[in-house]
Amino acid sequence: LKIEEYRPQSFIDFTKEENIQAYQEALAKVRRELVGKHYPLIINGERVDTEQKFESVNPCDTSEVVGTTARATEEHAEQALQGAWKAFEEWKTWSMDARARVLLKASAILKKRRLEACALMSLEVGKNYAEADVEIAEAIDFLEYYARQAMKYDGFGAAETTWFDGEENGLMYLPLGAGVSISPWNFPGAIFLGMLAAPIVVGNTVIAKPAEDSGMIAGFLVDILIEAGLPAGVVQFLPGKGSEVGEYLVQHPQTRFITFTGSRDVGLRINEVAAKVKVDEGQKWIKRVIMELGGKDGMIVDETADIDNAITAAVQGAFGFNGQKCSAMSRLIVVDDVYDDVVNGFVERAGKLKVGTGEENANVTAVVNQMSFDKIKGYLDIAPEEGKVLLGGEAPGEANGKPGYYVQPTIVGDVKRDARMAQEEIFGPVVSVIRARDWQDALDIANSTVYGLTGGVCSSRRERLEEAREKFEVGNLYFNRKITGAIVGVQPFGGYNLSGTDSKAGGPEYLGNFMQLKTVTERW
Ligand code: NAD
Ligand code: ALA
Repeated sequence: LKIEEYRPQSFIDFTKEENIQAYQEALAKVRRELVGKHYPLIINGERVDTEQKFESVNPCDTSEVVGTTARATEEHAEQALQGAWKAFEEWKTWSMDARARVLLKASAILKKRRLEACALMSLEVGKNYAEADVEIAEAIDFLEYYARQAMKYDGFGAAETTWFDGEENGLMYLPLGAGVSISPWNFPGAIFLGMLAAPIVVGNTVIAKPAEDSGMIAGFLVDILIEAGLPAGVVQFLPGKGSEVGEYLVQHPQTRFITFTGSRDVGLRINEVAAKVKVDEGQKWIKRVIMELGGKDGMIVDETADIDNAITAAVQGAFGFNGQKCSAMSRLIVVDDVYDDVVNGFVERAGKLKVGTGEENANVTAVVNQMSFDKIKGYLDIAPEEGKVLLGGEAPGEANGKPGYYVQPTIVGDVKRDARMAQEEIFGPVVSVIRARDWQDALDIANSTVYGLTGGVCSSRRERLEEAREKFEVGNLYFNRKITGAIVGVQPFGGYNLSGTDSKAGGPEYLGNFMQLKTVTERW
């Protein structure tokens, strides 16, 4: 494969009027061409409709149904799995180059339709322009990066083995088979596509089970893969309820692997169900399970930090996409000496954030659905008992006259380290600020969680940064910047502890999750 070196996409500069205008034109195009569209299932290349459907409701204006997807049953899941195994027989024989070209062609198409994909996400899940753009840039990066990474595994002898006289020894990388990819709604473009691109480029076939709230963008992206030349059955598109078709596929004896990104509790359930080996039903493998789960991510600010920079990092990390990121800063841990300065500045800056729709490019938009809204409201109810509400604290359910799942950006000060608000993933624009006695206490607080996804330190003391490098128990650690926004190939992403299996999406080892190795020896 002849191709230039991987470089991540650059982001669109929305301080420029012409870029804002281009985005608004894309929104108008999406309103003309995609709003109201229905996405059926795709099984073995055929579009299959179902009696029941999912509605994608605009979270920023719940009077609007953006479009619909079909809703698969267990029978569809069975057909999709059988079809994926059939397609595997052919797909696994394609060369690594040929499979990589499908990803590269898909990337070329997505680059041309970048703003359209972004605009669809603004309507379907309420992303503002920059959040949507960064995400589609990441989706393109996954295609480009995994296409190149796949080359490392091509052919006998791709992996290093030691020479032994009189024999030829070597390792072959082989795909696993047919698996299922179960994805969340909060990165419905990048994570959905990345979790397909990686397994397929190394020869597996996959059933794509998107989240119930974001089936349209998933359907849009699967259509791009098909346009790029992906053969029928390599990706089976199966929107459906997680607890029905998701669970059906997870327990199925013929499912070879499960790649899951979502909440901790669902992930742990999947892990448990997948671990049961059904030998009587013909299962002859231990399912490979790759998990990317939630977080309760903390950022420490010590008394030597650049306070202004720390406040910027806190606002960006906490309120980007309304805190609906696994990586979001939901705990701000501040050393007592600078507590008042940091917290006052944080409250002041966050207080200027504009709440509104994704379409009008508000800083903070609505949270994704009723369930999320109710869950966050539950935490707002206990906030006055667990700390001092310094900003927000209400969930008005409307903004600028539009009904939607709106929650005010909320900051709660002096939360105890073991309070529910300091321990449980809220997944909304709600930050718990925790006061630490000193640096050591701050590091202890940071590690006092079952999660271990992202974390940050704002400090100018070299020895503290070095100590955090060793002792801060997270998969992605950031110094003196926001703790969100990992870039493919630059910051491989994945968490420790109950945040997942640390598979490091967008990293040099990630494709290894979807392959098995065979050692072959020939005596001469
Ligand atoms: P979720 O766990 O509710 O759902 C994720 C997916 O699992 C959906 O497709 C859903 O339909 C499916 N599902 C639900 N029950 C299932 C079951 N019993 N069997 C099989 N599948 C089932 O999560 P969500 O609300 O869509 O996403 C938000 C969560 O995802 C947060 O906890 C967030 O931290 C996490 N997340 C983690 C990462 C990461 O990289 N670590 C990235 C994004 C999101
Ligand atoms: N990869 C996403 C981030 O880093 C979740 O914010």
